[in-house]
Amino acid sequence: MIALKHISRLYRSDEIETTALLDVNLSINRGEFVAIMGPSGCGKSTLLNILGTIDRPTTGAYMFEGADLATMSEAGLAEHRANHLGFIFQSFNLVDDLTIRENIELGLLYRKNLSGSRKAMVEEAMDQVGIAHRARHYPHQLSGGQQQRAAIARAIVGAPSLLLADEPTGNLDSENGHQVMEILKSLNAGGVTVIMVTHSQSQADQASRVVNILDGRMVLSVNRVPA
Ligand SMILES: Nc1ncnc2c1ncn2[C@@H]1O[C@H](COP(=O)(O)OP(=O)(O)O)[C@@H](O)[C@H]1O
Ligand SMILES: [Mg+2]
Repeated sequence: MIALKHISRLYRSDEIETTALLDVNLSINRGEFVAIMGPSGCGKSTLLNILGTIDRPTTGAYMFEGADLATMSEAGLAEHRANHLGFIFQSFNLVDDLTIRENIELGLLYRKNLSGSRKAMVEEAMDQVGIAHRARHYPHQLSGGQQQRAAIARAIVGAPSLLLADEPTGNLDSENGHQVMEILKSLNAGGVTVIMVTHSQSQADQASRVVNILDGRMVLSVNRVPA
């Protein structure tokens, strides 16, 4: 599904040059659940943002089912994101003045060729994460765990093939973190490829593969389950 080839990402400001990623080579098959681990500042979010095409590598190729996304036009990338990708963040990133239902509808905003009616797809996504009873509430009226489940519904409402999660349980207590993991695992069992940044060894132990990053380099990739 995915092949990163010699991916590097440099950040340049007036005086400082930071190498966020250096010569990363990584292939991911459809259906994998990949956990990305490493110390703070090692490049995990940079890697996830490149996988999500919200950042571009400085050098290298990003092949996604045969197309090189590293050099694709912005319009092409926008369509790619709308049709293939879902994102979840540590801080939920819900829109404060929209209801939960409206937030989830945002996940369909740029999606063309919907598989069903907009309304039915939103209902199904809410049911999948157990948030339907809060459809008319606003984000601030929900607990952190409920907000993250709503954010997952927004990410999956368009039926993405790849779900990217940057420390999705980082702001949650262990019970809510556990619920989020269970949802991600059931989505993965249903065929969605999941790539998740985590600091939790017990979560990484539930992934099918663990990728370790250190100082912008991929230092280890361990298959826990035969891919
Ligand atoms: N927009 C940016 N401008 C300059 N440096 C950045 C930027 N984003 C990230 N970095 C630097 O790149 C490195 C990797 O950052 P990041 O990918 O966020 O790490 P992690 O998610 O593993 O904590 C860090 O040294 C960070 O300071
Ligand atoms: Mg990060």
